[in-house]
Amino acid sequence: MSITRVSRLLGIEYPIIGAGMIWASGWRLASAVSNAGGLGIIGAGSMRPEVLREHIQKCKAATDKPFGVNLPLLYPDIDQLVAEVVSGQVPIVFTSAGNPKTWTGYLKEKGIIVVHVVSSAVFALKAQQAGCDAVVAEGFEAGGHNGREETTTLCLIPQVVEAVSIPVIAAGGIATGKSMLAVMVLGAEGVQMGSRFVASVEASSHEAFKKAVIEAREGDTFLSLKQLTPVRLLRNAFLGEVLKAEASGATKEALAALLGRGRAKKGMFEGDMTEGELEIGQVSASLHDILPASEIVRQVWEEFNQTLRNPIKFQ
Ligand SMILES: Cc1cc2nc3c(=O)[nH]c(=O)nc-3n(C[C@H](O)[C@H](O)[C@H](O)COP(=O)(O)O)c2cc1C
Repeated sequence: MSITRVSRLLGIEYPIIGAGMIWASGWRLASAVSNAGGLGIIGAGSMRPEVLREHIQKCKAATDKPFGVNLPLLYPDIDQLVAEVVSGQVPIVFTSAGNPKTWTGYLKEKGIIVVHVVSSAVFALKAQQAGCDAVVAEGFEAGGHNGREETTTLCLIPQVVEAVSIPVIAAGGIATGKSMLAVMVLGAEGVQMGSRFVASVEASSHEAFKKAVIEAREGDTFLSLKQLTPVRLLRNAFLGEVLKAEASGATKEALAALLGRGRAKKGMFEGDMTEGELEIGQVSASLHDILPASEIVRQVWEEFNQTLRNPIKFQ
């Protein structure tokens, strides 16, 4: 079934995308989402080139459906990661965190579909001008790195839809069929979900992190480190230190030193819930279970369709 330009472009059954996420979306999660009829994405941001190669091979062995790779463009090994994507004949690339002009032309020459992640209408237009096939418009409530504009998904989607003619995929705060329908009503033609898939059986993130995600409550995430790259984190001792440092006027250099290296791995992959960096979105407060990825796709799609048929029940 090809219901939107996004599902047709990506060759998938349902316009539901499992986000590329460092330390969470390896081949297991990506292939599970693709096998369920959505688009699974391998998050290359936490991978050395040879690790990405292995994930691409394993993903291909686990699914014959389309899948993608997320390439954060500011990553130091980006040339080698691009080379792995091309030699691994990955059909779809979602680029983020960088200028879409740099790689889009090259990737498209190689026959790869390119989708770029943006947080504003201005950047969406730049992605379209760079030749991207679609954009992901990611709102302020999203987990992980975020835009400086702090535009929420509800405000962002209509602005991006108005600015570009290429299809728009909504991200940030979406975890159910109802929220999917809401952004589709605003003009999005697909959704990308991150936090919901962190709380999945197949996510490669540590069990302690998954448990913390489903126990998170309202107000437990916070957008911090705005002087470096804004990132939405789950509250823990490390975030407490960051907020204290920011409140006392810490410089960019001091914040970079406090962050240090390997914090994200320590938290999300190794399960250090105290000192690790724990990227997650506001929607974590609504997540209460760790489910197989196929069940997540099924539930979202079913609820989307049920709500579409009977959208509002007034009391
Ligand atoms: C644990 C985690 C890691 C993430 N890592 C990346 C990444 O490596 N590259 C990227 O473009 N976005 C990354 N994101 C953002 C997601 O791709 C997605 O756009 C976002 O999670 C959507 O918002 P939601 O969390 O409210 O669903 C990450 C998000 C989370 C929760």
